[in-house]
This record gives sequence, C-alpha cells and structure tokens, in this order.
Amino acid sequence: MLKEIMEQPDAVRRTLEGRLKDSGISFDNLNLDTKMLKNLSRIQIVACGSAYHAGMVGKYVLEETLRIPVDVDIASEFRYRNPVVNQNTLTIVISQSGETADTLAAALQAKKQGSYVLAIVNVVASSIAKMADGVIYTYAGPEIAVATTKGYSTQIVQLYLLALLIAEKLETLSHERISEAIESLKLLPEAIESALKEAENIKKLASVTNSDNSVFFIGRNIDYAVALEGSLKLKEISYIHSEAYPAGELKHGTIALIEEGTAVFALCACERLNEKMLSNIKEVSARGARVIACLSDQSSSIKKEVQAVIKIPKTDPLFTASTEVIPFQLFAYYTALSKGCDIDKPRNLAKSVTVE
Ligand code: G6P
Repeated sequence: MLKEIMEQPDAVRRTLEGRLKDSGISFDNLNLDTKMLKNLSRIQIVACGSAYHAGMVGKYVLEETLRIPVDVDIASEFRYRNPVVNQNTLTIVISQSGETADTLAAALQAKKQGSYVLAIVNVVASSIAKMADGVIYTYAGPEIAVATTKGYSTQIVQLYLLALLIAEKLETLSHERISEAIESLKLLPEAIESALKEAENIKKLASVTNSDNSVFFIGRNIDYAVALEGSLKLKEISYIHSEAYPAGELKHGTIALIEEGTAVFALCACERLNEKMLSNIKEVSARGARVIACLSDQSSSIKKEVQAVIKIPKTDPLFTASTEVIPFQLFAYYTALSKGCDIDKPRNLAKSVTVE
C-alpha cells in the first residue's frame, strides 16, 4: 500500500498526460455529443466504497463548474429504488476494478432506462468498460493493496477533466477560467509529491492515535467528501472505529460522542469556509476533543485553536481533494503499521466484490 501511495504523483501525471492537449482536453473513447449535453437535466453518479467517495468529490466539482444538479448514489441502493433516470440523465459509473457486481448492475439499469453511461475505470476491457457507452480509463497501473489509493486519486482527476471538458462544450466557464484550471492541473503531480513529504510528521501523529477507540473526521464541501475517504481508509486497515461528518451537522447528534481526548480531524482545505470550520472546531474543543487540523492556509487563525496541524500545499479550490487525501492515506497506513495489522490484506475485505 505504501508503494502505491508513493506512486500517486506518477499515476496522476500519466492520467493527465494523454488528456491535456494544446487544443484543450480530449478523451479517446468518449463521444459526448454537445446536443445530448445541452439537454441534460441531471448527472447521476453511481459507485461503491472509495469510488463512491470519489463520486462525492465529483459532485461538488461538477455542480460548481456546470451548474447541473448531480446526485451520487451507492450502487446497491440505486439498483433497488426504481431510480429516476432517462435520456436526459448522464450516468457516470466509477469503479477501479470495473467488476463490482452492484456497480455493473446499476450501470445496466441506467442504460436500460435510456441514459448515456460513462464509465471511469482502471482495468482495461473489464465488464463495466465493455458495457458502457463511453469509457475513461484512469491509467493508475495495477493496484494490488485492498485499500485503494492511486485508484481513488486518478478517479478524481478524471472527474476534474470531465468537468472542464463539459464546461468547455456548454460554455459554463470562461476560457480564462478553464485555462487557469488546466494550468493548476499540470501542477497537481508536484503538489501531491509535496504532500507526501509530510510522511514523517504523519507517522508521529499515528503513533499517538493508534490507541484511540474512536476517531472523527469533519469537513465541509469537498473537505467533507475527503473526510469520508479518510475515515474509510482508517477503518479498513487499522480497524479503529471512525466516522466522517459534515462539520455543521455534528451538533445534531453525533457531538454527543465527543469526550475528553477524542481525536477529531478537521479538514480545512476549502479556505472560503474556514471561518465556519473554526466555529465547529471550537464546538468540539469545548467538549474536550483533541483537534488536528489539515490546512493549506498556514496563516489561518485555526492554527491557534488546535493541538496539531497537518500541512498541505495550496491548489486550485476545485482540486483540493487531490492533496488533502494524501495525509489521511498515510495516517491510516502508519496507524495500521504501528498496530501490526495486515495492511495489504485487511481482514474481511476483498479487492473486488463480484457478488451481491
Ligand atoms: C471493495 C474494495 C474497496 C473499493 C470497492 C469498490 O469493497 O475493498 O476498496 O472501493 O470494492 O471497488 P471498485 O473496484 O468498484 O472501485
């Protein structure tokens, strides 16, 4: 898993390389007709596990750039709820393996109902890639560790590219904004490299947290989507109970679980919401929480209110998930390592779930 975490700058570089041309963004196996795009009333994302969390990042990015409503569903829920999907819906299915049974069934269901199915997959010629109307391969390379890292990172980069491609076609963003976003995308591999350099600090943090029974992750907007993934990574490989919550929702129940010394990770890459995060941090601190903030703005007043800080580099506000997820992958890894867990093959889990 550590090897795959460290491969992420290269994986993201590969993912971007073939798609960023001088003329803009281009995908090989995708014929998104502008007329079909103009008629879209919704985008529906369907996936399982970490791919679902990548979809959550995609929701914020696609809605922000396209101004089209985006729903994200867990595939096993989607397929049994008589979903409202038709020819005016673009269905995006996300799957590293391309073989997850529930995701495949959901994709077939959407196709049957007349929706264009666009698959974001890593494994070439997998079942989902074969049935989809259009495919975007993530080019992450083989992923062996059960808990995905580079698979997830390349999925979110493909979602950024897709958002910019559609924004170009529908003219929902100016040429200047698209060019600026493309320039930021080119810098992402280096930004991920720099986030990886914090590994030693994260290792120290993990050695303190490995005896905790319960850990919380809070964030707003894209930070919430990353909180979901950070929490899942920790559960999957270290077996520590953890929960991810939208920071503003914690007070409606879950805050009852915060007591003296409870570790709370506050994800604060979404700088425009830092004031709101600050008040959520104060709420949990007042109940005795030990707060660790993940910050891209090193001058933030949040620093004074927390016990520890995880630094991440600044990126375009649309792409913060790419750098912010890195410390939480490392944190899960080092926590599991210090507990002596079988990191690459965690108990009860399979890399690819091909049964219902
Ligand atoms: C399994 C894996 C998860 C993964 C999920 C979806 O549960 O353990 O890490 O996120 O399946 O897999 P997929 O191949 O569809 O992305």
